Amino acid sequence: MAFLLGTQNFFTYLVDQGLCAVSEREQVIAEPRICRNFNLLVKLSDHQQLLLKQEPHDQHGKSCGELADEWRFYQLLQEYPALDELRSLVSKAINFDQEHSILVLNYLDSYDDLGEFYERERRYPIEVANSIGTGLGKIHSRTYDRQEYHDFLVGERDCQIAKIPNLLSGLARIEPEQFAVVSTDGFKFLKLYQRYEQLETAIEALNQSFIPCCLTHDDLKLNNILIHKQWHNTTDQLVRIIDWESWRWGDPAADLGALVGSYLKLWLGSFVINTDIDIATALSLAQTPLEVIQPSTQALVTGYLQAFPEILNRDPAFISRVVQFAGWGLIERIQAAIHYYEPFTNREICMLEVAKTLLCNPESSIPIVFGVSESTLTHYVGIA
Ligand SMILES: Nc1ncnc2c1ncn2[C@@H]1O[C@H](COP(=O)(O)OP(=O)(O)O)[C@@H](O)[C@H]1O
Ligand SMILES: [Mg+2]
Repeated sequence: MAFLLGTQNFFTYLVDQGLCAVSEREQVIAEPRICRNFNLLVKLSDHQQLLLKQEPHDQHGKSCGELADEWRFYQLLQEYPALDELRSLVSKAINFDQEHSILVLNYLDSYDDLGEFYERERRYPIEVANSIGTGLGKIHSRTYDRQEYHDFLVGERDCQIAKIPNLLSGLARIEPEQFAVVSTDGFKFLKLYQRYEQLETAIEALNQSFIPCCLTHDDLKLNNILIHKQWHNTTDQLVRIIDWESWRWGDPAADLGALVGSYLKLWLGSFVINTDIDIATALSLAQTPLEVIQPSTQALVTGYLQAFPEILNRDPAFISRVVQFAGWGLIERIQAAIHYYEPFTNREICMLEVAKTLLCNPESSIPIVFGVSESTLTHYVGIA
């Protein structure tokens, strides 16, 4: 029987791992947080707070080892002094228990979840997006083409993190034997997706252009970013990128594109579902208009390019590919919604339309996504 961490046994566990003393029993409190993993927030007697993450186990008591990968990422930052600068951009891991797949992190009480911040505040300070771009650009540029980091992280392992992802996964034509397992909404989506042949061709070409060359996060979304609670008035790091369990030796355009896609989802997720209006009208009625989001996508990319300007020489199509990966991220979002049996409404139809435009016509989509042309974007960072 696998050991499952909970509010009843966490204290004994912490004592066993040497993370607190038996005498602290009365002062230590824990509250469960259900995310993708089982997470427990623990407040110690010295006001330090810990986040304990435990991976789900299958019926044979096995986990898939993603938290071991997250621990490996934090070890990389400990191992190489040249990467010291990156530590303040992420969280801090304290302990990893391989046997029970439990990772202990320092919980940063002065930070908030960025997804929740945007939802609650409905304001999008450009310095926040700019700081995310700068942080991500530093992580990519400091690890770009660095074989020793690749070897430390990936080693000889023949696993997902060392492979090129299959962007067409789940998008193949449905065979009759799958009819019973695909939901009605899943059918609606695939039928519409498969109507656009050029969309599949564009995703295939994007997949072929994928160049694994640096450390990438590979699960970038607003809920995996923390924002400082005093963001308007702090000398501390404004944002931190967390949840590194899915990192991959990957393509930097995929990471930045995923984030651009997350900002576009704030716009695309904000209009009322109504089958009586056409898509153009629905888009124009968004509660969070595109113009409100564009300053953030622009600040995100200019922050990134300021930190990593060489990427434009190494990959002249970088910005177009970022736009394409943003489009692919929207398709991935629809697939996830269908997986969780959420309905395929005209909101998802709009998302698919926008995804198609970004994937098939990336150059002409640049002004839609960022509100300015490509030359203006590069001009801002003094590259053009
Ligand atoms: N170090 C931290 N400090 C503060 N909050 C955190 C920290 N790590 C995670 N969180 C919060 O907990 C949530 C889940 O953590 P995360 O590492 O993303 O786990 P999961 O793999 O379950 O998504 C995050 O979305 C964030 O709101
Ligand atoms: Mg997460």
